[in-house]
Amino acid sequence: MLMGGQTFLVSVGVLLAVIFQVSGRCPESCSCERQRGRKTVICDKGGITEIPTNNMDTDTQIFLVTAPPSNPNYLTIGRIFLDFTALEEVYIMHSYVPAIGHSSFWPGTNLRVLSLSHNNISQLHDFDFNGLTNLEVLDLSDNVISATPSAPFRFLSNLTTLSLARNQLKRLVPRIFYMLKKLERLDLSSNPLGDIDPENLKDLRPLKSLSLANCQLSRLHSLIYQHLPNLEELDLRDNFFNYFAPEEFRHLKKLRMLYLDGNEMSVIVDKAFNGHYFDYLGLSRNQIVSLDACAFCNASIKSLNISRNQFASLKSNILKEVTFSLQVLDIGFNNVAVNTVASVIQPLHRLRRLSLSGLALTTLPPQIFLTNRDLRVLDLSQNELSTLDPEILRPLSKLEELNLSGNLFLGLQPQLLDQFTNMTRLSNVPLHSNPWTCEQCHILPTLKWLNSSLGNRKVCRRDQSCFTCVHPERLAFREVRSLRVSEVPPCGGPKSQSRIFNSGSQIGIIIAVTFLVILLLVIITFILIYKRRGAVYYTHEEERNDNYLYGATLVGDINGGHKDEKSLRFIATLDKIEESSDDYPSKSKNRIT
Ligand SMILES: *[C@@H]1O[C@H](CO)[C@@H](O)[C@H](O)[C@H]1NC(C)=O
Ligand SMILES: *[C@@H]1O[C@H](CO)[C@@H](O)[C@H](O)[C@H]1NC(C)=O
Ligand SMILES: *[C@@H]1O[C@H](CO)[C@@H](O)[C@H](O)[C@H]1NC(C)=O
Ligand SMILES: *[C@@H]1O[C@H](CO)[C@@H](O)[C@H](O)[C@H]1NC(C)=O
Ligand SMILES: *[C@@H]1O[C@H](CO)[C@@H](O)[C@H](O)[C@H]1NC(C)=O
Ligand SMILES: *[C@@H]1O[C@H](CO)[C@@H](O)[C@H](O)[C@H]1NC(C)=O
Ligand SMILES: *[C@@H]1O[C@H](CO)[C@@H](O)[C@H](O)[C@H]1NC(C)=O
Repeated sequence: MLMGGQTFLVSVGVLLAVIFQVSGRCPESCSCERQRGRKTVICDKGGITEIPTNNMDTDTQIFLVTAPPSNPNYLTIGRIFLDFTALEEVYIMHSYVPAIGHSSFWPGTNLRVLSLSHNNISQLHDFDFNGLTNLEVLDLSDNVISATPSAPFRFLSNLTTLSLARNQLKRLVPRIFYMLKKLERLDLSSNPLGDIDPENLKDLRPLKSLSLANCQLSRLHSLIYQHLPNLEELDLRDNFFNYFAPEEFRHLKKLRMLYLDGNEMSVIVDKAFNGHYFDYLGLSRNQIVSLDACAFCNASIKSLNISRNQFASLKSNILKEVTFSLQVLDIGFNNVAVNTVASVIQPLHRLRRLSLSGLALTTLPPQIFLTNRDLRVLDLSQNELSTLDPEILRPLSKLEELNLSGNLFLGLQPQLLDQFTNMTRLSNVPLHSNPWTCEQCHILPTLKWLNSSLGNRKVCRRDQSCFTCVHPERLAFREVRSLRVSEVPPCGGPKSQSRIFNSGSQIGIIIAVTFLVILLLVIITFILIYKRRGAVYYTHEEERNDNYLYGATLVGDINGGHKDEKSLRFIATLDKIEESSDDYPSKSKNRIT
């Protein structure tokens, strides 16, 4: 009997377990699955007006509600999670939630992650987060929060990460962060704060990372720094700072990452960063015209970004103090001359990444990278380079990426391609946005090199389309690597001959001059013949042709002789003169200047 009863109970248990497993409930239009071993409900189709907790298993651990932009949710939250004690992560996003509500996530004893980002929450209230003592991550970003009570987060004694980014906070109430004893990361970016009272941040001693980007700040009280002795990362991007005092950040002894990009600084004063060890120092997008001689004195900087400023000149020893630490440098989009650049980077023999993008460089001195033998990534994009001396690359045997996009290359010289081939670590050479000219004299070496698997691998990613022809018109947008040799036209276009002159090729000039001389001889011969046979050929038409002929020769002379071919054709077929003079201008449209 006893045995029977036990068996019965066990089998009922098994049956229940099976039923539970099989018929585990799942709200309509949601999907239920196990993620990272945890029972997960995902409702992401949109268009709902009620959180579907009715049909949800109470042992759900992860619950996610979101919606595509085309089909938003309109939800309110009440105390709907009372039975859901197993919940560990809750995401209710893109749902126009207007408020959180009194103890909405109660009891929430297991809740560790709560995201209510991308909603319409305009205020926080006293008991919004009641019970969430184990919460570690709270994301309230992308709402319209403009008001909070004092100490709204006081229940969250285990919180490590809080985001209030992209809300409407104009000011922080006193003790807003009270009791956040473990908070390490706080994101207040993109709130119109204007100013911050040091009192507001005094409860945040453990804080390691603080973002105040885009908060309309023009100053920070030095007490703020004193309240945050553990700060390692400070983001002040896109504010209105125009000055930082010498040793401004001296209280932040652990600071490793400092983002000051996108402010209004025009100078960096001496000893601004005295005593700091920076992994990253961002000074880009300011209006800095000069760095004081000792701007980086007694500092160590691994990665420095001074791009998009207004440096007219840079003293060659300006980075002397960080010679031994600097590994990444971005000087792009400044107004500095190539010789200045060369002298600034010359001592930086530890450099691994260098950006010289957007400096209007037309040539580079052959020795420019002689001492930067550790370079892995070199960005020369968005300059005006049409050739690159292979000599320049010879010291860079460790180079992995060379960005040449957005320059003026028509094709690549065979010597440069050989150099690429020799650089065994080079595996990424972006070349798009150049005026690639798919005519024989420009593109054939490149084409042949691309056709080798090595060349193709270095320049084109397997899964991406590779750079395309720009000229001639007929081949525009064709991928260079897909061309067959037989498809590539000879260099006939007027543009390509003028190119020879631009690049100052001696041979080109000699050929053209010879050409002109021969042409003159031919003309004279013709004139002589005509004069002799005057009776036969003397017509008005001939007079006109004669003028044209002189005109053409003259134009050819001025523009560097590129009309010679035409003139010659004209001589050979006098009667086709109209035709050939018509088709001429249409070709010159392709010309690049
Ligand atoms: C968002 O909240 C504001 C009030 O804060 C309200 O006027 C607006 O209608 C709400 N938007 C939606 C789509 O619910
Ligand atoms: C914080 O979490 C730890 C374990 O993660 C727990 O032991 C502790 O009780 C929590 N602290 C509070 C104040 O709840
Ligand atoms: C240089 O920085 C260190 C801290 O890294 C500091 O102790 C020292 O006083 C500084 N030296 C000068 C001359 O300021
Ligand atoms: C430097 O800053 C600019 C603009 O802020 C950014 O686009 C660029 O990626 C940064 N460079 C590096 C090396 O981080
Ligand atoms: C190369 O430079 C261009 C333009 O500056 C940039 O958009 C692109 O991301 C760079 N490519 C790589 C692989 O860094
Ligand atoms: C490539 O390397 C070989 C042998 O290492 C050398 O002989 C040749 O000159 C190099 N070519 C270029 C263009 O550097
Ligand atoms: C590419 O290589 C193949 C054989 O490997 C050859 O048949 C083809 O003509 C080559 N194409 C070009 C453009 O060199």
